[in-house]
Amino acid sequence: MSNAINRVISGMRPTGRLHIGHYFGALQNWVKLQNDPAYECFYFIAAWHALTSDYADTSQVSQNTIEIATDWLAAGLDPAKSTFFVQSQIPEHAELHLLLSMVTPLGWLERVPTYKEQLQNVTDKDLNTYGFLGYPVLQCADIVIYSQRGGDLAVPVGQDQVAHIELSREIVRRFNSLYGDTLREPQVLLTESARVPGTDGRKMSKSYGNAIMLSESGESIRARTKVMVTDPARKRRTDPGNPDICPVYDWHKLFSPQQVLDWSAQGCRTAAIGCIECKAAMADHLIEWIAPVRARRLEYEAHPERVKRILADGSAKARPSAQQTMKRVREAVFGPQSFEAEAGISNPAVAAKPTGAGN
Ligand code: TRP
Ligand code: SF4
Repeated sequence: MSNAINRVISGMRPTGRLHIGHYFGALQNWVKLQNDPAYECFYFIAAWHALTSDYADTSQVSQNTIEIATDWLAAGLDPAKSTFFVQSQIPEHAELHLLLSMVTPLGWLERVPTYKEQLQNVTDKDLNTYGFLGYPVLQCADIVIYSQRGGDLAVPVGQDQVAHIELSREIVRRFNSLYGDTLREPQVLLTESARVPGTDGRKMSKSYGNAIMLSESGESIRARTKVMVTDPARKRRTDPGNPDICPVYDWHKLFSPQQVLDWSAQGCRTAAIGCIECKAAMADHLIEWIAPVRARRLEYEAHPERVKRILADGSAKARPSAQQTMKRVREAVFGPQSFEAEAGISNPAVAAKPTGAGN
């Protein structure tokens, strides 16, 4: 068994197709980590986390899981280099969540900054549930179920998730102090990301209708970038502008070569170019950047059975690690000879019965 290799683990909720903000905010970094031989990467789709806020409508979870995995493949994640799986295909995450929930003080969960903030601000969903409060405990289980001796557990996330990982560390410390050193404290691997505003200058989000999807066609990119927000002070063609506050220029920085960047910044400040030509040049480079991503997307889209197979294979590959950790956890909590420790050992008598699933 390899043990000195550090593990990377991260997940996404199945919210549907991904946009370029997801690429620069997470996927680009995930691809980089998968290509680093110092890391063994596990990336999963957190289907149960979707239910912490959307339990009443589960109709999209399964399809959205495929959409996300398809976008991962399009973005360059490679199942030969990293393991992709679906949280709900590894029930040990739920078992560990249960045990961690027993040792997690309520106050720790109530103090998570996003908890109160979302309770107050999200009005179109019911967040007054036990499951929603326990969201970070489930997240902790997702990570530390891949604990191993030697080797770190690194979690690449954006700033918005840091409090959750900090809480995971506290839960692990509490667990280990009660039952002995069993789980590993995860480390945050903060993703530094460039600013990727939406077409209207607000944060890019599918629900604002300001996102460019990884599957966006050239035609649509042209149409949507034409109406992008620019420096609002640049009202007339003859007004000089400030590229540093312009979303179009933020996108130039992501997609255009240096020479075009210089042309745009210079031309903007001196009013030598107009916004129409500046946007058109940016769109050219965005379309060029997205072409191979989109081509891979269309290819996998035509073969959802391949995507499903990749997820099933990845889940089968990740599960033994989770099972090993759960075995150690049961032994630590209940003792090696306990009924509980034996509960996880497959029972051939039960497995042989065709109706065994009804137990
Ligand atoms: N909470 C994460 C998000 O909303 C998703 C997630 C669930 C996750 N479990 C995780 C991320 C474990 C990292 C590790 O983006
Ligand atoms: Fe933005 Fe380009 Fe117009 Fe300047 S010229 S305001 S950078 S779109």
